[in-house]
Amino acid sequence: MTGAYDGTFNICVAMCDGNRGIGLAGHHPWPSLPSDFRYYMTLTGTPNEKGKVSVNIKGRVTWEGSSELERHRPGVINILISRKLKEPPDEAVESVFPTLQDAVDYLSTSAAFLSMIDTVWIMGGEDIYREAINHPACKRIYLTRIYGSFPSDRFLAGFENKFQQIDQ
Ligand SMILES: NC(=O)c1ccc[n+]([C@@H]2O[C@H](COP(=O)([O-])OP(=O)(O)OC[C@H]3O[C@@H](n4cnc5c(N)ncnc54)[C@H](OP(=O)(O)O)[C@@H]3O)[C@@H](O)[C@H]2O)c1
Repeated sequence: MTGAYDGTFNICVAMCDGNRGIGLAGHHPWPSLPSDFRYYMTLTGTPNEKGKVSVNIKGRVTWEGSSELERHRPGVINILISRKLKEPPDEAVESVFPTLQDAVDYLSTSAAFLSMIDTVWIMGGEDIYREAINHPACKRIYLTRIYGSFPSDRFLAGFENKFQQIDQ
């Protein structure tokens, strides 16, 4: 990928196959999966083009549940979605926006970012995934399927009718 950021974004998400669960009480519904964590860290933290950055967009609760390893990554810019926070909660967060659309608009028009951004990743939670799935700028969903059902209180909105599977 070369040139300026084109305004699109990808989704990175892991979902239980059986019940579409993605979260429980602020955490993943399933026991820790180190191989999926390594995959997620590489996917969302490695720009395709040297010298560019990945942007990670998260809801406030997902951010608060993120580990220090996820928060502080060279080459990653963290953006939060929050209605109540007006300022970044700490130095690992670049900016806070009240809506996903505001964040996307800012990234697509900010001269400071346009030439820097490689990929923008939408990283949850529930409402933000739903909005992203239904957004015209959503290019790809990178989905980890967790086989079975785990008790969950957050779920992934339907995407199957909007996206075509291109790889497994
Ligand atoms: N399986 C996965 O791949 C995956 C990925 C991410 C998260 N998760 C799980 O999902 C859960 C967290 O997700 P969640 O849905 O509870 O919370 P969340 O989306 O991470 O955060 C919720 C907060 O984000 C802000 N927000 C969310 N949607 C918004 C919108 N449309 N407009 C403006 N602000 C918005 C609000 O912040 P304010 O209250 O500050 O206004 C809201 O209270 C956890 O269990 C986590 O482990 C799973």
